[in-house]
Amino acid sequence: MSLTRVPGLLFGGDYNPEQWPEEVWAEDVRLMAEAGVTMATVAVFAWSRLEPEPGAHDFAWLDRVLDLLHEHGVAADLATATATPPPWLVRDHPEVMPVDAQGVRLEFGSRQGYCPSSPVFREHAVRLAAAMATRYGGHPALAMWHVGNEYADHTLECFCPESARHFRAWLRARYGTVAALNTAWGTSCWGQHYTGFEQVEPPRKAPGPVNPGQLLDWRRFCSDALLELFAAERDTLREITPDIPVTTNFMSLLHGLDYWTWAAAEDLVSDDAYPDPADPGSHVAVALSYDLMRSLKRRPWLLLESAPSAVSWREVNAPKPPGMMRLHSLQAVAHGADGVMFFQWRQARYGPEKFHSAMLPHGGVHTRGWRDTLRLGADLRRLGEVAGTATRAEVALVFGWDSWWGLEAPESMPSNRLRLKELLLAWYAPLHARGIAVDLAPPDRDLSDYRVVIVPNLYLCTAEQAKALAAVTGELVVGPFSGVVDESDQVHDGGAPGPLRDLLGVAVDEFWPLPDGATQRVRHAGGGTGRARTWTEWLRPDDDVAVLARYEGGDLDGLPAVTRRGTATYVSCLLDDVTPVLDRVLGGVPAIGPPPGVEAVRRGRHLFLLNHTTAPQQVTLPYQGRDLLTDTDLRGVVRLAPRDAVVLRIEGDT
Ligand code: GLA
Repeated sequence: MSLTRVPGLLFGGDYNPEQWPEEVWAEDVRLMAEAGVTMATVAVFAWSRLEPEPGAHDFAWLDRVLDLLHEHGVAADLATATATPPPWLVRDHPEVMPVDAQGVRLEFGSRQGYCPSSPVFREHAVRLAAAMATRYGGHPALAMWHVGNEYADHTLECFCPESARHFRAWLRARYGTVAALNTAWGTSCWGQHYTGFEQVEPPRKAPGPVNPGQLLDWRRFCSDALLELFAAERDTLREITPDIPVTTNFMSLLHGLDYWTWAAAEDLVSDDAYPDPADPGSHVAVALSYDLMRSLKRRPWLLLESAPSAVSWREVNAPKPPGMMRLHSLQAVAHGADGVMFFQWRQARYGPEKFHSAMLPHGGVHTRGWRDTLRLGADLRRLGEVAGTATRAEVALVFGWDSWWGLEAPESMPSNRLRLKELLLAWYAPLHARGIAVDLAPPDRDLSDYRVVIVPNLYLCTAEQAKALAAVTGELVVGPFSGVVDESDQVHDGGAPGPLRDLLGVAVDEFWPLPDGATQRVRHAGGGTGRARTWTEWLRPDDDVAVLARYEGGDLDGLPAVTRRGTATYVSCLLDDVTPVLDRVLGGVPAIGPPPGVEAVRRGRHLFLLNHTTAPQQVTLPYQGRDLLTDTDLRGVVRLAPRDAVVLRIEGDT
């Protein structure tokens, strides 16, 4: 099933015609048609132009834009335009602006200036969404709704009195009684016992470390509060235009929002991704977030924004060298995207993003950028048959947002150096290098489909989650500092790994974090040594537990580092190289094994080979078939030019 009614792979970008005189629009749509653009995201920041005064709408200009797009075969990802409130709303209701943890109310003059809990903002946003849906629900250009924009980009949290009220209501719903809240938050520590919900406040700046239980619930609340705001607009849209899918653009692997929950609340997953062209490893990290996007709903997703070349918000904004825009776009498709879109269509002449690259650069149609746009449009047309196809992964990487929030809470952990993204990448990168497909999964999903389930870290692990992990039928690998606390951030009885104790057959006697730069030697049972950094543990294994690696030298000399009970492996440290563990657990999981720097990804009947290096590479094809990009038959050894790609339609039944 396709994501929208537009066939093939979507191609296009954010289009901000309100920043241009109307004479330019005709050229825009003519060039869009020339480039093969099929979708444009419109009106994201247009509230102040669509409703210049309270209740007085000016839709005429947007009518003309949508008509023009439609006449040129371009569908609209139409925003509800609520990503920035108009000046009059802020003037009439200054309380819609967010307040920071120090109590400072932020000012108008940028974007996303709203308190997620503000009823006034919500009411006005829903009213505008309703007006948009009523006006454009029947417009032939309308293909999908784009609610808000990158929630939590600038505004994740607000500490104003309204947010405090909302937080208290959320806590009441979660705990019922203040006694239950006291128990969950452990308020007997440092004298924080509450006698009524009205005494509870958001975790504003305090003299010392803030209660971690309160912080964890605040993270949950902030994700939920923004989700409520999104859902209020979504419900209105669904009521008026039930057949138009609703999305909001995610921000890859974002700490602030629990995308497992968010994805369930939208019709299709879309993402914005901006790998740094100057970082030679960024294609691996971005592949991880693309796999997350595909896993959120276990179906194709849409790359809704990416940069044709440089962005404008890093300290130094490296352009994408020739071939990279195309390669990165094909990479998204390989990982399940049913379209590639950009920020933005025409490069701005003013505003904070005037130096951000665009599909149509300042220099117009004589630029390298424009040639790249034309080339990519043509390539995506050739790949139309890939749209809608599924990825089959036999390996799952498990993580959950509240565990992430607990793990990275400030100030009260054994070490602040355990960062979830790094822990995920330590496993993902070697799997990716072998060309093994990986799904991401939340800890409470049924994991019985997978031959190998890897949990890089599950600091917060509930009894139910432990049950789900115990039900894994394939190999299970659990990383360090897992099973430490329950859903209230309270240490499990007997210490780590808490509810995973019997499954893994080990107890953690003491956490043994390493100072920055220090390493600990590890000797693998099969021979060979490796190194751990950042984190080690003093383990007490049960008698029937096999020791697969031991610490060698240092304080933990001779103690187990990696253990195994049945098909459950526990890795108590951050290994520099997890190859020995992977070699043991991967068994017959199919691996394509491309040369270093070449990415090999199967999607349905198609094999993508992506050369991320600046040298030519040779790959021995595991299948024969037709390269859709060059329309030639390939078999045996293929040569990939630097930053070039092959998309093979595999012949025969595989
Ligand atoms: C995000 C936003 C866009 C724009 C780009 C710039 O994708 O959604 O509005 O700011 O970043 O990279």
